[in-house]
Formats: sequence, C-alpha cells, structure tokens
Amino acid sequence: MNDENVELVKVRTNDLNVGMFVHDVGRRWIGHPWPKKSKLITSESDIKQLKRYGIREVTVDLNRNRSRKPRAEAVEEIPEDGRETMEELPDVESKPAELFKQPLELIPIEDEIPRAREVYFTALETAREFTIAARAGRQVNVAKVRENIEELIDSAFRNRDAALAILKLKSYDEYIFTHSLNVAVLAIGMGFHLKLNRADILSLGMGAMLHDLGKTGVPLSILNKKGRLTDEEYNTIKHHPVIGARLLEKQQEVPPQTIDMTRHHHERIDGSGYPDGLSGDELSSMMTITGLSDVYDALSSDRIYHKGLLPHEALKIIFTLRDKQFNRQWIERFVQCLGIYPAGTLIQLNSGEIGVVSSVNRGMLLRPVIRPIFNRFGQRVIDKDFLDLQDSKYLDRNIIDVLDPKELKLDLSAYF
Ligand SMILES: [Fe+2]
Ligand SMILES: [Fe+2]
Repeated sequence: MNDENVELVKVRTNDLNVGMFVHDVGRRWIGHPWPKKSKLITSESDIKQLKRYGIREVTVDLNRNRSRKPRAEAVEEIPEDGRETMEELPDVESKPAELFKQPLELIPIEDEIPRAREVYFTALETAREFTIAARAGRQVNVAKVRENIEELIDSAFRNRDAALAILKLKSYDEYIFTHSLNVAVLAIGMGFHLKLNRADILSLGMGAMLHDLGKTGVPLSILNKKGRLTDEEYNTIKHHPVIGARLLEKQQEVPPQTIDMTRHHHERIDGSGYPDGLSGDELSSMMTITGLSDVYDALSSDRIYHKGLLPHEALKIIFTLRDKQFNRQWIERFVQCLGIYPAGTLIQLNSGEIGVVSSVNRGMLLRPVIRPIFNRFGQRVIDKDFLDLQDSKYLDRNIIDVLDPKELKLDLSAYF
C-alpha cells in the first residue's frame, strides 16, 4: 500500500521535466546512471542521461516533485510495494545505442536454433572424443575441432544469438565436455561482437574449446572431489594450463594463439592468476575473452557441488571482479555481447506475462525480444508472437524478474 507521504506514478522519460523527483529508475541491478535510484531532476542533462542508458520509463514521487507539471503525464499508478528488491550490481557504463547497432541477422533465431543445436551436439561429441583420446595418451583430432568451430562460426554468422541461447535452454550433464564447448560458443559470440576477422575467431574458438585439455592430465579423483582440496591437490589442478599447452605444442595445425589461450586462460590482470602470473597488458584480448567465458560458464553451470547461477546472477559476480581480475572495459564488452538478459533467459514482465528472451537488442540491453510463454492470466500462449520491447508499442512492458525454468519445470527448447 502507498505510504501517505508517497505518491508514485510511472512517467515516460520523454515526459520528464526538471523539478520532478525520480523515486526509482526501475533498473534491477545493472546499468542505471546514478549512484542512487532516486534523485531530483535538476537539469536536462539528468534526463538525457536516462535516455542514453535506454531507460524509457521511471517512477516519480509526486509528493516530492518541485515541478508544477500536471500529473496527467503519468501513465499508470503503481503501488509502493511494487518496488524492486533485488540487490543492485555496481553500475555499468552503458554506451549510447547507436554505437552498438546490431547487424541484421540473416535469419530469425527460431529458424537457426535447430541447426545450431545439431552443430552443438556434433561438437559435444568431438569434445568427448578428444578428452577420452588425451586421457589415453592419444593425439587430439585437431582437424575435427577446427571443422566444428567453423560450423559454430557459420551458425553465429546466420544468427548471433542461436548458439548462445542453446547454452541456457537445458542443463546438460557431463560438465567436463559441455564446459569446453560452452566456452567456445561464448568466445565466438565475443569474436563477432568485437568484429574480429574470421581467422581470429577460428583461433579463438579453437583455443576456447581446447582450453581445459590439460585437465586430462589431472587425476579424476581430484577433478571430481566434492570436499575441499588440499594445497597439493589444488597445485596439481593449477598445472592443467601448462599440460594442455604442451599437448597442443606437439600437434600439427594448432594456431599459436590457440596454444597461448590454453596456457594463459587463468591469468588475471592483477597478477593473481596462473601459471605465469602475467598482469596488465601482458594479457592478450584472446586470453581475456577465454578467461571471462570460462568464469561465466563455470558460474552458470550445474556442478556436483553447486547449482548453476542464472545468467544475470553470474554476470553480477563477474562484475565484482572488475579492475581486479578483469579489466572493466572487457567486462562491459562481455555484458554488451551476452545481454543483461541473454537469449534463453526466462523472464517475467510487469504485465504479468512470462516469456523467454529470444534475442538481445544490443543497443538496449534491458529491452530484448521476448517470446511469451504464459499470458498475464497464467494461460499458455499458443501463438508464436514476439514482443520486441524496443518497439514503441511495448513501452509499457518492463522486465521485472528472472525466473528459473527448472523450478517451473519448463523446457524452453520447445519455444524456439
Ligand atoms: Fe582451466
Ligand atoms: Fe575452464
């Protein structure tokens, strides 16, 4: 219920005026421009700042307004207890939308998903094969890894979000294989986001897929240990980047950057990483991309000892590493690439509808394209409609929550 001293209304950012008191910018955890969510608008630049951050609507407290603007600007009254409670992440420097215009997708995500899924499972089989081969002391079939990465690049070329969405559609068993592949898919996504050339994306994808190859030199009893590792066991695990790089050095046709990424994916800018304790500029962009993708996938995957975090929760933790383990700009690039709500995330809108993010609007990360699953009455949506939250028709819709598909027993792959 409203407190008698608080009179909250939603107001479009376009209708804001100097003197209005913004009670809440409506951002859950990332990317709003002010240190606090509430603020008196003291200049036009405050309003411009909100627009630049992609905020189209805010909550205004009419009782704290210093503006004489009539309240007719309000689009809807909302109850005080409708405020968001999720803890905020530190701010991210969002960039103006025009800088991140997404290239047109060649084909819609729903058409690419079946192909991307096929490519994903073929590559998963390759990851299984090379892991078994390396454990048995045999060579890795590098040509096959290259072929699978080429196919993943082709898929990303047709649609950037399809393979990324697959990572979140289901949780697969066999972390050891899926992890290698997920890191490759994420790294390829970053390669496209950064507009790298195809040869570089290929080396990047191969390095990401093979980054943990050296774990085949670590006893399974240590890798799968549920309890706390002893110092000696931890040191054995920390040797895996060196083992992996040595295995690849012995093979033909492995790009040098791929070997470099395998050796250095645990290096961090503050020098706290291993095996060589590199720091600052000594880390290449490819090492950083693999490191970020590695941490993100490890946090968001189900493991023996923890349940995987939801995408936004994993990103929130990665944010805490900024300027310590990873450079702030690189973390921002990673978020821009994945989206605050990555493709495949189950979300709830303020309208009550529940849906899955089908693609990310990279110029407006909080307003992706949604495929509705339940309408506001909780009934399944049968029509294959999409709500592009960037579209002016849907200005009144905002994402208010991220849901766990496992808790709702939903198989999101049915919605692509
Ligand atoms: Fe690793
Ligand atoms: Fe890893």
